Amino acid sequence: MDDLLGWRKEFPTLETTVHMISHSLGAMPRRVHERLREYADTWSSRGIRAWEEGWWEMPVTIGDLVGRIIGAGPGEVVMQQNVSTCVATVLSCFDWSGPRNKIVSEAANFPSNLYQCHAVEKLGARVVTVPSDDGIGVPLDRLLAAIDDQTQLVLFSHVLFRSSFVQDIGAITRRGGSVKWLCGGPGAAYLYVRRDLWPKLEPRFTGWMAHKRPFAFEDKPMDYAEDAFRFLNGTPAIPALYAARSGYEIIAEAGVERIRQKSVRQTSRLIELAREAGFRVNSPENPAKRGGTVVIDVPDGAEVARELLRRNFLVDYRPGAGIRVAPHFYSTDDELDLTIREIRAVARERVPAARAR
Ligand SMILES: Cc1ncc(COP(=O)(O)O)c(C=O)c1O
Repeated sequence: MDDLLGWRKEFPTLETTVHMISHSLGAMPRRVHERLREYADTWSSRGIRAWEEGWWEMPVTIGDLVGRIIGAGPGEVVMQQNVSTCVATVLSCFDWSGPRNKIVSEAANFPSNLYQCHAVEKLGARVVTVPSDDGIGVPLDRLLAAIDDQTQLVLFSHVLFRSSFVQDIGAITRRGGSVKWLCGGPGAAYLYVRRDLWPKLEPRFTGWMAHKRPFAFEDKPMDYAEDAFRFLNGTPAIPALYAARSGYEIIAEAGVERIRQKSVRQTSRLIELAREAGFRVNSPENPAKRGGTVVIDVPDGAEVARELLRRNFLVDYRPGAGIRVAPHFYSTDDELDLTIREIRAVARERVPAARAR
């Protein structure tokens, strides 16, 4: 029995689509309707008073819901608008003009993150990226070897977006120093900074919310808050935070361990089905090294993915990788079969069309 399927009724979209795209956008929890109504009612009835009645603290109170999922302590996670803002905050904590100016990353990191690293080269940083040999993983020994005493920051993705390869976060953080699956929706990203590092980090990308006494409106140099508010900047995106909380609550309640177990079982089955259908798989074989997505190499993948979307099969395509298929805790085993069957059907229909061209 798969108890996790009990959650399906909380996600209305699952009644009309095969949702295999939680690596990009998780399904919307039904409760988001109520939360956004609560936001509008609060704004309308409480007006400016809402700031004192919870809005001001929301980047941290919602951050605590994420903290529960990732194992962070209370007050250690702050919500920001997106991953790029989190990365900008972190990069702005360091001085890049000295000899310890190296940033180590993987060439397969999400481009947005690398754009920001290259932008601080103007301030003296040196960016070193470790390539992939097989287009799937990053060789851990080479990544670790790149981290030396000139390294100031290691910026890496826990799971690579193109292949779903899981990096060894423990080994990398021992040597050196991100909201899709959480169903939180756009406009909400989280930043975790270990508590003992707070006093050492003063982001140059900042704002009044990061000040120790924001309502004193002081015109002196910045005096950072002692808590994780120091990593915030301007007025937070309150509606996005209302929308985000339902997904975090559901994931915490469903349980990360159970979700992972199911994911490993379903992605293994997807790989089997894809191979039986004659497709090559561009995701790691070893389940421990594989995230929640299976990347399937299909001829004319971009067009096949577009046709699948038209048929209510929610997947996507990444150049140089393939069609990304991601079951989540709310997916049934039947949907795995349906998805592969549909990919095969669309791909087959395209072959005669391609020959005719
Ligand atoms: C792995 C990864 N990192 C970073 C980003 C960029 O995130 P944002 O658009 O929130 O800045 C994405 C966006 O899809 C991503 O997949």
